[in-house]
Amino acid sequence: MDPVRDSRGQVLAPFDPKNTPRHVAIIMDGNGRWAKQRWLPRVAGHRAGVAVLTPLLEAAGEAGVEALTLYAFSTENWSRSEYEVDSLMSLFLETARGKVPELNERGARLRFLGRRWCLPEDVQEAIREAEELTRDNDKLDVYVALNYGGRAELVDAARRMIEDGLSPSEVNEATFASYLYAPEVPEVDLVIRTSGELRVSNFLLWQIAYAEFYVTETLWPDFSPEEFRRAIASFAARSRRRGGA
Ligand code: FPP
Repeated sequence: MDPVRDSRGQVLAPFDPKNTPRHVAIIMDGNGRWAKQRWLPRVAGHRAGVAVLTPLLEAAGEAGVEALTLYAFSTENWSRSEYEVDSLMSLFLETARGKVPELNERGARLRFLGRRWCLPEDVQEAIREAEELTRDNDKLDVYVALNYGGRAELVDAARRMIEDGLSPSEVNEATFASYLYAPEVPEVDLVIRTSGELRVSNFLLWQIAYAEFYVTETLWPDFSPEEFRRAIASFAARSRRRGGA
């Protein structure tokens, strides 16, 4: 594997499995701006954003990352134009049909996070099939946040605890975490956000409590495996104190 370099070309320290993030969560931002810069419709930016996924997943597997969560569609994204929302839903469907068999062969296990019951029926069906097909894979866990909102996830967890009749004394951090959409996934170690915005945007509010951040100006369709490796190297060089001294 080529050495990892920082943006000035300096070689960074090689991967140390001890300091590799187990769970990386990515806010894939900047598709619209990427398209605008090229006088293309926004959906062309989203399409270019899908093309980044396969090399990224490969790089994540090679780096020893166990879980990757991708923010594909938020509960707030419904406020975009009807055309853009429909185009994104068609793209999710096309991606599920076109890429899932390949991801399956590469050993990725796919799971979807969010209020899936509000998605179009054909998208729900495609995500059920993708989860079913890949359920026994163990190379990399890929979580796709689709119609996902961090606050909605917490509300849904609270509702289910009430439905299950938990008493107040039974509600603690461990029980709360067990009611999240994917209780089995380790906490997020590293959040990557493209396109330079310094916001959390309602993403994994519970799971990012102690996450490190890596923000890059790069627009999502230009995000490369090399830049991903740079983010991992940046994480590895940090000291995480989790509130300690
Ligand atoms: C943000 O760019 C991107 C999205 C809302 C959609 C992300 C979707 C993909 C990359 C494709 C599908 C992914 C999977 C996992 C199937 P933006 O539109 O907010 O860009 P802007 O801020 O420049 O307008």
